[in-house]
Amino acid sequence: MGQYNKAIVIFLVCLSFMYPPVILSSLADGYTRIKLKRMKLDKASRVVSHFELSHSLRGRYGNNTKSSNGLDIVLLNNYMNTQYYGEIGIGTPPQIFTVLFDTGSSNLWVPSSKCYFSMPCYIHSKYRSRMSITYKSIGQSGAIEYATGSISGFFSKDIVRIGHLVIKDQEFIEATQEPGMTFMTGKFDGILGLGFREISVGNVATVWESMLNQRLVKDPLFSIWLDRSDNEENRDGGEIVFGGVDPKHYKGDHTFLPITKKGYWQFEMGDVLINGNSIGYCQNGCPAIADSGTSLLTGPSSVITEINNAIGIKSFTSQESKSVLSDQSADTIGAPDVDCGKAASMPNVSFTLGGKDFVLTPQEYIVKDGEGDGTHCVSGFMPLDIPTSHGYLWILGDVFLGTYHTIFDYGNLRVGFAKAA
Ligand SMILES: *[C@@H]1O[C@H](CO)[C@@H](O)[C@H](O)[C@H]1NC(C)=O
Ligand SMILES: *[C@@H]1O[C@H](CO)[C@@H](O)[C@H](O)[C@H]1NC(C)=O
Repeated sequence: MGQYNKAIVIFLVCLSFMYPPVILSSLADGYTRIKLKRMKLDKASRVVSHFELSHSLRGRYGNNTKSSNGLDIVLLNNYMNTQYYGEIGIGTPPQIFTVLFDTGSSNLWVPSSKCYFSMPCYIHSKYRSRMSITYKSIGQSGAIEYATGSISGFFSKDIVRIGHLVIKDQEFIEATQEPGMTFMTGKFDGILGLGFREISVGNVATVWESMLNQRLVKDPLFSIWLDRSDNEENRDGGEIVFGGVDPKHYKGDHTFLPITKKGYWQFEMGDVLINGNSIGYCQNGCPAIADSGTSLLTGPSSVITEINNAIGIKSFTSQESKSVLSDQSADTIGAPDVDCGKAASMPNVSFTLGGKDFVLTPQEYIVKDGEGDGTHCVSGFMPLDIPTSHGYLWILGDVFLGTYHTIFDYGNLRVGFAKAA
């Protein structure tokens, strides 16, 4: 199996966009709640693109390219589906950015005013250090390189505001180059990683670590609720709570699983069942991560293909997903279509976590695009072969996190899942 030398950062970029006002609430309970907005599936750009990338940092950070656990290749997977994002402020006075809150990566980056030659920079908010009286120069260059493009820039330090939290001296990357289409169609300006320091490019303290070190949050945990309801009028996008848990957004108790490897929020997943019958793949455990930055649920192609066959999809083959990892160029594959009308007869798919079965019904794993007669449906299961030292990695993305409210318990190094409400 070899060394686990691949890492993945998976997030969605190809999205249509609505201006996302951050609705902040400072609450008596001391938590910071950030309301998230979500994007709808955009039919016009409904393709899946995969990008292989590797971290490479130059200058002082050059030798930190490889994190301590040997992660050095980052695979970025773009899937335009629903996307959850929120707003932050950087600098004094605050400059506002829309960021993807991504538990599958660990750096904060936003476009820089010094980004001159990349199209994505022209359609997104840019950080202007000279407009901020709290800006501190670092200047060391940093880059995340993709097969199809890259983000590169330099590290700077400034105040970051999230809700009413004021985080001082946060290091982040000012991106000066975002070539290619990767971030062109991404309507968020940047990404705020909520993973562990172990996969932080440049080994800089993560925003979350800074919050803890500066004693800004009540308890050392955060929680994410993603609204998957169909109701257009009175839906929120979701909510991320720093320092606590919002009891409004789950039912019953959380089932907790210990973190097995710091980097992503990685844990051991048990069996996978189709209509209650084991498919006999993960009975002895499979590595899995809870990743708010990916929209679907991914797993090894052989197993995902079996699940997709069981729900009536034939077109999404393992052949296609293999090319995702081997190709040097971006790969575009069609989304796995399903017949919306057949949802009622599709099986439940469940995952055993901490000895308990977490069911996804067809309504929960089918992702809808459009309204009424024009509705188009795609499977929420996507094949993606990511080898690790002990088997292929599963990514429980928004399809799963939307169904199950998730606590990222940093203090106790565990994740907890409970039915979302
Ligand atoms: C980085 O690593 C290279 C090769 O391992 C070494 O020659 C160089 O001195 C290191 N640089 C720093 C700043 O540690
Ligand atoms: C699927 O799961 C739901 C919710 O747990 C349950 O109500 C339903 O009966 C299940 N359907 C089948 C076919 O097992």
